[in-house]
Amino acid sequence: MNKAYRKAVIAGNWKMNKTPREASALISEMRPLVQNADCDVVLCVPFIDIPAAVEAAKDSNIKIGAENVHFKASGAYTGEVSAQMLVESGVEYVVVGHSERRTYFGETDQTVNLRTLAALEAGLKPIVCVGETLEQRELGYTETLLKYQTKMALTNVKPEQLKNVIIAYEPVWAIGTGVTATADQADEGNGFVRAAVAEAFGEEAAKALTVQYGGSMNAGNAAELLAKENVDGGLIGGASLKAADFATIVEAASK
Ligand code: 13P
Repeated sequence: MNKAYRKAVIAGNWKMNKTPREASALISEMRPLVQNADCDVVLCVPFIDIPAAVEAAKDSNIKIGAENVHFKASGAYTGEVSAQMLVESGVEYVVVGHSERRTYFGETDQTVNLRTLAALEAGLKPIVCVGETLEQRELGYTETLLKYQTKMALTNVKPEQLKNVIIAYEPVWAIGTGVTATADQADEGNGFVRAAVAEAFGEEAAKALTVQYGGSMNAGNAAELLAKENVDGGLIGGASLKAADFATIVEAASK
């Protein structure tokens, strides 16, 4: 982290876990543990949990995010949720282009871009996910792919909107596998993302961009990952479902 230039953000991504009642209970447990954080603290939760989560996080430093957003404002899109619906529900952040959505739900670089633009237009802060598969890494495509995904996701984003964008480098091979990228691999991947943003928006904008690492970040390895210059926070899956573990990661980012 380099807090002189950019904000540290620790975000949980609960994925398809926790009912509304369980969401309230977990946030109530987390609140006192993260109240002195010197970083932004976000929990991205299933759509159906949002009202309960917003209520449970009220008057705390925990911000609520969603896990996806549709790119149209309204219309015949059965099962989808618009950016304005999220804003009105008290949501401030939204995960866009998670690899699970790319893998299981047909998300493409084009739709990731449209969702990013829709989120920004509505005033949401998108957490845009990029990352290579193991095969792509072994073929030597990591840098090319991360730069491509980053630039595609940010196409037509206005320079003044970039301050509301977070990018999460999540190597697909490290998600939910217990295999964490080494701190050097995380730093390098995040550096490729930042370099792509520098190419598209200039050095100053890139320097100010928060780039998270995600993929088996946990209470035990967070401090080492976050000590790296280019790792400005984390997008946390499994470890964000346990109050004490999540709080330890927040503490590591608050140093
Ligand atoms: P895990 O922390 O469970 O590996 O998940 C990472 C992730 O996908 C966060 O979005």
